[in-house]
Amino acid sequence: MKITKPGQKMAEGKTKVVYATEDPNLLWLHSKDQVTALNGKKHDDFANKGALANQISTLLFQYLNDQGFQTHFVEQINATDDVVQKLTMLPVEVVVRNRAAGHFVIRFGVENLQPLNPPVQEFYYKSDQQDDPMINPSQLEALQIATPEESQAMEAQARALTKALTNLFAQSGMQLVDIKYEFGRNQQGELILGDELSPDNMRIIDQATGQSLDKDVYRHDNGDLQHGYQTVLDRLRAQLGEA
Ligand code: C5P
Repeated sequence: MKITKPGQKMAEGKTKVVYATEDPNLLWLHSKDQVTALNGKKHDDFANKGALANQISTLLFQYLNDQGFQTHFVEQINATDDVVQKLTMLPVEVVVRNRAAGHFVIRFGVENLQPLNPPVQEFYYKSDQQDDPMINPSQLEALQIATPEESQAMEAQARALTKALTNLFAQSGMQLVDIKYEFGRNQQGELILGDELSPDNMRIIDQATGQSLDKDVYRHDNGDLQHGYQTVLDRLRAQLGEA
């Protein structure tokens, strides 16, 4: 069935609106222009930001699907809207870090951008009220959020996804510093990559200049967010052969 319009609004988050579609297995995702930091305590609108983030996310999901990864992405409708597989999302953020940055630097007092070998993997419990605390597989099991097998699967997938994306960014003149993934179960109970993959949820630096091309410029008020996102989109398009 070709999906041509959004149905009933199901949910609205900080950066996205989720709509049902006439197919019960598919959802319509709309990206908003809002940018947030500090768990939503800081928020602003930037013109065209939803379109930039969604187009980057769409390219990355298409790339991962082509590489044989299972993701929720089905098709792009327009610059801000995609149709995706409906998943039951786990309230878990899976972070992989190639280099130290952000909370890793604060937590361990190490040098910013220090390489991490092997890359570090962390789980966080998604809860605005609790400020997204770090969580481990035993806690995920006891709280009935994920079975030990699911935690293992999320870790393995996150590592493999990060390897693929790190290579793609490197070929495009950019360094992937760290990245956050979210997974959900499909109707068969399989864990599938969901959510979005944009500079809102990863740190990317320009290999040549060291300039930050992601949401850090908004977090720290030290750069032009749209310029960074546009640079990422242009380079990925050039690398992936898109117009
Ligand atoms: O803040 P922290 O250093 O833990 O972030 C690690 C990575 O996870 C960054 O790329 C950040 O953008 C992403 N992240 C996210 N959503 C959160 C927390 C972190 O996308 N709620």
